[in-house]
Amino acid sequence: MKIPLSLLLILWSFAPWGTLASSAAPHRPYDSIFNFGDSLSDTGNFLRSGALAFPVIGKLPYGETFFRRATGRCSDGRLIVDFIAEAFGLPHLRPYLEIAAHGSRSLRDVRRGVNFAVSGATALDSDFFYNRQIGKILWTNDSLSVQLGWFKQLKPLLCSSKAECDAYFKKSLFLVGEIGGNDYNYPFFIGAPMEDLRAAVPLIVGAIVGAATTLIEEGAVELMVPGNLPIGCSAVYLTLFQTPNSSEYDPRDGCLKKYNTFAKYHNEYLKKALQLLQQKYPHTRITYADYYGAAMRIFRAPRHYGFSKGALRACCGGGGPYNFNNSARCGHIGSTVCKDPSAFANWDGIHLTDAAYGHIARRLITGRYTSTPLLPSHGVHNPDTTRKG
Ligand SMILES: *[C@@H]1O[C@H](CO)[C@@H](O)[C@H](O)[C@H]1NC(C)=O
Ligand SMILES: *[C@@H]1O[C@H](CO)[C@@H](O)[C@H](O)[C@H]1NC(C)=O
Ligand SMILES: *[C@@H]1O[C@H](CO)[C@@H](O)[C@H](O)[C@H]1NC(C)=O
Repeated sequence: MKIPLSLLLILWSFAPWGTLASSAAPHRPYDSIFNFGDSLSDTGNFLRSGALAFPVIGKLPYGETFFRRATGRCSDGRLIVDFIAEAFGLPHLRPYLEIAAHGSRSLRDVRRGVNFAVSGATALDSDFFYNRQIGKILWTNDSLSVQLGWFKQLKPLLCSSKAECDAYFKKSLFLVGEIGGNDYNYPFFIGAPMEDLRAAVPLIVGAIVGAATTLIEEGAVELMVPGNLPIGCSAVYLTLFQTPNSSEYDPRDGCLKKYNTFAKYHNEYLKKALQLLQQKYPHTRITYADYYGAAMRIFRAPRHYGFSKGALRACCGGGGPYNFNNSARCGHIGSTVCKDPSAFANWDGIHLTDAAYGHIARRLITGRYTSTPLLPSHGVHNPDTTRKG
């Protein structure tokens, strides 16, 4: 077959550009996203695994804002990972357990990304908690290493030879977290002393860095690893650990200082471990995402960002100073939902709203809260124009 010269020229002019784009140029859009984590980024795995510990995420008001139905996301709408996918012109990531349940009949969009995150998941394996007699309070056993196992199971459907996988994963963004927050939440909520949890930080960071290492060995080149949110600003922490001692609160935001200090300690530890990992694998690009800093903007100036009801009080809940009531959590009898979730940063006491996640995601995408830019330097793409030739 004779190939027209014009077509040859087009192919020729594209080839070197394509090669360059997939090796050297750091600022480029991605062809797919693979996400690992917990309820901050779960788009439906926990619900599909039964959600026994938290069945209300399977019904409204969860999902009421954007999807207009409950999808299994722990929010009224989209999560940070959804906004990142949108910014790249990629579909919202499908939950792995949905794909696994339908088998090869359900491969739509799989090569554009898959979500392995599970609400309630921990960075450490569930054995760790069972061995310390606190396993029973875990929502799920689908820890980070279980999620990595799922990724390995799915891999043959994504690519076959090592060369093909390498080429494909090179253009994929791997989001490892946020994860680890629950490793602290569970013990904190049953009264574990802060010194014990501080001592566990190296273990938990080790599990996160271990997962990133596994993914690099599997071919990941571009990774983003987020830190923890300011947990001292979370309605559940503010409620469980409320104190009459006003010096425990930061006057700038009303958050509990020592829990925020703890989150920062974890984040600093993680950041340093990631720097070492980057040195060990110079061919990769490991980005630390400062969820803490990005979210803190909202907590320091909620009204500036449109959160007219402040950032600490939950939209959906069963009363109390932060509208979080453990006996009447969002979705349960005794709770009510606010009229306008976009006026609230906190959705259900534990998780944030579509509006708050959108703000955080935009800050990450524009690169001000990531250690290296997440998007091409020319800025955020319009979903309609991102598709590459
Ligand atoms: C997690 O594992 C433990 C011990 O193997 C088991 O007893 C428990 O039922 C599991 N929990 C869930 C939610 O699957
Ligand atoms: C109140 O909190 C501050 C800061 O944590 C602490 O130094 C002080 O001892 C506390 N006061 C009382 C009466 O507990
Ligand atoms: C929390 O919910 C329970 C059960 O609905 C209710 O009896 C209690 O008054 C609520 N507490 C607050 C502070 O609203």
